[in-house]
Amino acid sequence: MLILVINGPNLNMLGVREPEIYGRKTYADLCNLIEEYSEKRNIDVELFQSNHEGEIVDKIQQAYGRADGIVINPAAYTHTSIAILDALKAVGIPAVEVHISDVSSREEFRRISYAGMACMEHFIGLGFEGYLKAIDYLSEKSAD
Ligand code: DQA
Repeated sequence: MLILVINGPNLNMLGVREPEIYGRKTYADLCNLIEEYSEKRNIDVELFQSNHEGEIVDKIQQAYGRADGIVINPAAYTHTSIAILDALKAVGIPAVEVHISDVSSREEFRRISYAGMACMEHFIGLGFEGYLKAIDYLSEKSAD
């Protein structure tokens, strides 16, 4: 099975950006963790990060007919992007939302998640672990 893991804007700055919220581990650390975890489970993963909304929409569209699942942390676009919501709905690929921080206990504007409306499951505030749980969720779903 192929899982596409999408990370939105500023997640390439992990390790540098607000470490008190997001921790000291880098985006490269996150990629290594996901790759090692998936390899052990015989799951193919494609990792993608972009700071641009349209590129994320393009990537979701390109996954149509190719990926079996999408793990998405749209970062700030979570709270603004109907385009990403519509792209997820358009392709109809099982999707899971991940946030490193607990968005429900932060600013009010982080409480709305548009992309989350097209996701089957949500792992929020679990740090990097949330990505691994999302991969497990999708692989268990596809085995059903
Ligand atoms: C985030 C939470 C968002 O509100 C924020 O804009 C991010 C990261 C998270 O993973 O906790 O960039 O998606």
